[in-house]
Amino acid sequence: MVQDDVFKKLVSHCKEYGFVFQSSEIYDGLGAVYDYGQMGVELKNNLKKYWWDSMVMLNENIVGIDSAIFMHPTIWKASGHVDAFNDPLIDNRDSKKRYRADVLIEEHLAKQDEKIDKEVQKATKRFGDTFDEKMYRETNPRVLRYQQERDEIHARFVKAMNDNDLNEMRQIIVDCGIVCPISGSRDWTEVRQFNLMFSTEMGSTADGAMKVYLRPETAQGIFVNFLNVQKTGRMKVPFGIAQIGKAFRNEIVARQFIFRTREFEQMEMQFFVTPGEELEWFEYWKNRRMQWHQALGFGAEKYRFHDHDKLAHYANAATDIEYEMPFGFKEVEGIHSRTGFDLSQHEQFSGKKMQYYDPELGKSYIPYVVETSIGLDRMFLSVMAASYREETLEGGETRVLLKLPPTLAPVKLAVLPLVRKDGLPEKARAIVDELKFSFACQYDEKDSIGKRYRRQDAIGTPYCVTIDHQTLKDDTVTVRDRDTMEQERVPINALQQFIAERTDMSQLLKQLTH
Ligand code: GAP
Repeated sequence: MVQDDVFKKLVSHCKEYGFVFQSSEIYDGLGAVYDYGQMGVELKNNLKKYWWDSMVMLNENIVGIDSAIFMHPTIWKASGHVDAFNDPLIDNRDSKKRYRADVLIEEHLAKQDEKIDKEVQKATKRFGDTFDEKMYRETNPRVLRYQQERDEIHARFVKAMNDNDLNEMRQIIVDCGIVCPISGSRDWTEVRQFNLMFSTEMGSTADGAMKVYLRPETAQGIFVNFLNVQKTGRMKVPFGIAQIGKAFRNEIVARQFIFRTREFEQMEMQFFVTPGEELEWFEYWKNRRMQWHQALGFGAEKYRFHDHDKLAHYANAATDIEYEMPFGFKEVEGIHSRTGFDLSQHEQFSGKKMQYYDPELGKSYIPYVVETSIGLDRMFLSVMAASYREETLEGGETRVLLKLPPTLAPVKLAVLPLVRKDGLPEKARAIVDELKFSFACQYDEKDSIGKRYRRQDAIGTPYCVTIDHQTLKDDTVTVRDRDTMEQERVPINALQQFIAERTDMSQLLKQLTH
């Protein structure tokens, strides 16, 4: 299936089965804002639990907080967001559509890479086993030309971003012949900077209202509480503070469903280390985070690191973990070595010491920070995209399946009486009443058993428990596995353990070795 079609189907599946709805839909929606439905909220909660437990439960030296969304406005001055949290925007005069200039250039570079890869693929087919890819890339004239063009643009782009040179960014777009995807035209405006923070007013105007911001990241709530947590928790460097919460950005180019939205959730962890040790910790967290993603079992080839071309002035290393979405490899998580920038800025702007007394070194210093920052909504999208399947079964029947990792599935088991009589519904209800204390269960007696299985497949329920006439005789049920569709008979008194062994969060967490 064409990837575009897969994505469209995924979006409508999300709506049809109660995962994600357009916000304010009855009022024609609100741009780039989404609501999570009855299934979506469960999947989201399970993702949060997977992240939180992997940080806070598995690491003695990481604790969590939940800071307020509103914070003192000077925090955003100190962090640099008031002055520099901008996107470079460009408009196409014909379509009147607005784009991020850096994204247009990055997409152009990705197309160049694809051209090169296509040449290599063609040659691989032509030469078979004897093909030496390295030599081909280094000697084939066409590949070399493409590569040289790409590298030149890339070097100009990195320089323009680092120098904040908006004219040069426009010139790159013009020189590369980049066209507007809507109008196909090259009539571009100048590039301008646009601040992404939402603001509102706190207090009544009579008292003199204060302009406050909706936080664009959760990280600053961690920085300003760094000493509160360190002192009250008697934490010793290296230690981490984790937080899950909403963040808001007035994204101008908000596209691709929940990938880029104006209200979203972040799961961030700031790890405070001794200055000089930050790059070792950066490597450590890079690997730990990749392991966390890959433990979900979607295949290692679906992920890659993308080191940043442009480092923020305060960072000395930064990489993204990208996942192969239906619309290409895209950032899901960032890992950044932020040096002592944030704490130093807060020390300067607040006039309060932000230093840690290191008993082993016998001195005080501002710790350096390695941050891991993942967008929950993007993670949600990657998990849905990885799990969505359309299968043709024997006999030609089709089924839509969400092959979610059982631990993350919104419903762990569905309990289904084969028929709506002979005492089977009562028996099924009794099983739900027992198991609902441990698992998210659904009871369903409507329609044929085949239809009920399909409904559960579509929301990713890993196990369907069917109560039939034999159940009344020997207290056993059939348990159908979502993926293999195979059924086995299990005694009712062994069901609890059967489901727990296969769906408990600890199953996933145990794969995260250090
Ligand atoms: N504290 C660092 C920070 O906020 P970021 O790279 O701007 O870094 C981190 O954001 C993550 O937050 C991204 O990798 C992405 O998953 C998520 N994110 C950022 N903007 C988003 C948006 N508009 N919609 C959805 N997720 C977003």
